[in-house]
Amino acid sequence: MPALVRDYFDWLASMYDETTAACEWSAPEHIAAAALPLIDPGDAVLDLGCGTGQSAAPFLEHGCLCIGLDFAPAMLKEAMRKHPDLLIARADLDQPRGWPVPPGVFQLCISAGVYECLSDPIGFIARAKTALRPGGYLVFTFDEFVPGHPAQGVRVGRADSGIPNPVADLAAWNLHRHSIDRVAGWLGDHGFQLLYHRQIEADIHSHFGVPIYYRLVVSQAP
Ligand SMILES: C[S@@+](CC[C@H](N)C(=O)[O-])C[C@H]1O[C@@H](n2cnc3c(N)ncnc32)[C@H](O)[C@@H]1O
Repeated sequence: MPALVRDYFDWLASMYDETTAACEWSAPEHIAAAALPLIDPGDAVLDLGCGTGQSAAPFLEHGCLCIGLDFAPAMLKEAMRKHPDLLIARADLDQPRGWPVPPGVFQLCISAGVYECLSDPIGFIARAKTALRPGGYLVFTFDEFVPGHPAQGVRVGRADSGIPNPVADLAAWNLHRHSIDRVAGWLGDHGFQLLYHRQIEADIHSHFGVPIYYRLVVSQAP
């Protein structure tokens, strides 16, 4: 399963920015609006599942030192090409070992459009906590479970609900949708304070013809 997710994003990499622009993918903008006021130029920011660097870009412009982690080599290549000042490293966010970043140095961890791809959403929170300085922030989005929604009415569903995907087999992996109560519980279990959360529309032109809803979470490490 993780290999299929990685293969899918490797396939999408060269078209990713164009495709997300067509869908009006806006999660990176919501992350920037929420997190830029929390940090200063020079702070270290870790982008978990950086893709082509859309989320990291505003933080680079703000003068932060940004490191992007991703497991898809083609995504990292695009990120490097588009943002030469973004430091990148390959890592699987589902794996507890082998994170190529030192613990306790980041003032902020960001992650847009990644949480729903993970098979270990609790481990992700634990690992973000390890990367953060005490009192640092974890700001991320997750694909929300929305009862009655044509795509999001199931907690586990095929990955091609947002981006039109002509290579059906590549999307034969599942997105994991969550509710805020569950995510809030996991954050609390790891000592995070949930500062606020709100629903956002991020894939506005999904091929279901309806917006896809995400939840933006702003939390602070102990
Ligand atoms: C929807 S894209 C989002 C990219 C970027 N954050 C943005 O908002 O444009 C999801 C990204 O997460 C990465 N990803 C998914 N699962 C991952 C995992 N287990 N470890 C590392 N990266 C992962 C994918 O390779 C892809 O680049």
